[in-house]
Amino acid sequence: MRAIITGVGHFAPENKLTNKDLEQMVDTNDEWITTRTGVKERRILEKGKGTSFMAVKAAEMVLSQKNISPDELDLIIVATVTPDMLVPATAALVQNELKASNCWGFDLNGGCTGFVYALSIASQFIETGKHQKVMVIGADKMSAIVDYEDRNTCVLFGDAAGAVLLEPSNNDLGIEDFILHLDGSGYKSLYVDAGGSLKPASQETVNKKRHYVYQDGKAVFKRAVTDMADVSLQIMKKNNLIGKDIRFLIPHQANYRIIDAVAKKMELDKDHVVVNIGKYGNTTAATIPLAMSEAYQDNLMKKGDWIVISAFGAGYTWGSCLFKWAMD
Ligand code: UT7
Repeated sequence: MRAIITGVGHFAPENKLTNKDLEQMVDTNDEWITTRTGVKERRILEKGKGTSFMAVKAAEMVLSQKNISPDELDLIIVATVTPDMLVPATAALVQNELKASNCWGFDLNGGCTGFVYALSIASQFIETGKHQKVMVIGADKMSAIVDYEDRNTCVLFGDAAGAVLLEPSNNDLGIEDFILHLDGSGYKSLYVDAGGSLKPASQETVNKKRHYVYQDGKAVFKRAVTDMADVSLQIMKKNNLIGKDIRFLIPHQANYRIIDAVAKKMELDKDHVVVNIGKYGNTTAATIPLAMSEAYQDNLMKKGDWIVISAFGAGYTWGSCLFKWAMD
């Protein structure tokens, strides 16, 4: 039994925050942002709505594409670093909104690698025969934890969600392999200091802006380039594949320079790499399913194509998943 992706969907809020807008907010400029990151604009979810709102929209797109009832879902996994609330899990809010009455679910915080982790986990429930339909969602409202007075981070992130449906199949399509890593020694380079059990919200944490994401960009950049490329190459080698066998790399979209470096090491031409960072920025757990869903809408993938997804993020977490595209 193998796990295949049988549906993909996404949601991005309509409200755009452009580089020009940011020029009015912090000491930055379009040229710096474009050349250093590749981001031109990002989407911002309105106040009063949380990550679950986008996750539900993405999941609904999958359900209507597949014409299946939410009741058929066995499991919902929501990869996110920006849950609506600390308790309960965003998966519970998604389940309730979808009225998916026969499933269980949980949230997964794997930083920007959350979707790769979640897809790998979900595939196990399918391969064991335990479940028939698993909804894997990557969703983040990064605008909720970004300080729009901090030019180091506010130019990078945006809000969005993406979702895929995993189902069993007994042909040679679907999830072939994954390689996942965690190195917690890097946590101080990318984190949100307060709001958890260590430093609960207080007047002091708010005054000191401890609820915003902090990133040592240079440190993360170095590790991202090396580890994302290494794990992508490793999964290819392990499965006796070379660059020209891979139809698409769908990478985490944190920085165009990182994507470019990874693609070069994999010996992939630009037209074999799915890139949409210009339109959305870094939407954390959403980048890969969002890019996958858009690529599907653009008819880029053909059944049987080898696809590699790779990511690096807070933790540090990183990993790759290799699969054969299974949709027409
Ligand atoms: O998805 C999770 C994983 N995250 C990542 O993979 C992100 C990894 N890091 C990066 O993408 C890059 O490090 C950044 C895009 C965050 C920063 O790019 P960089 O080339 O590493 O720039 P830097 O931090 O070394 O800053 C270079 C200069 C500095 O000025 P000085 O010290 O050279 O005078 C910064 O103060 O650019 C300055 N700078 C800015 N200038 C204009 C930093 N942010 C900005 C800005 N606009 N927004």
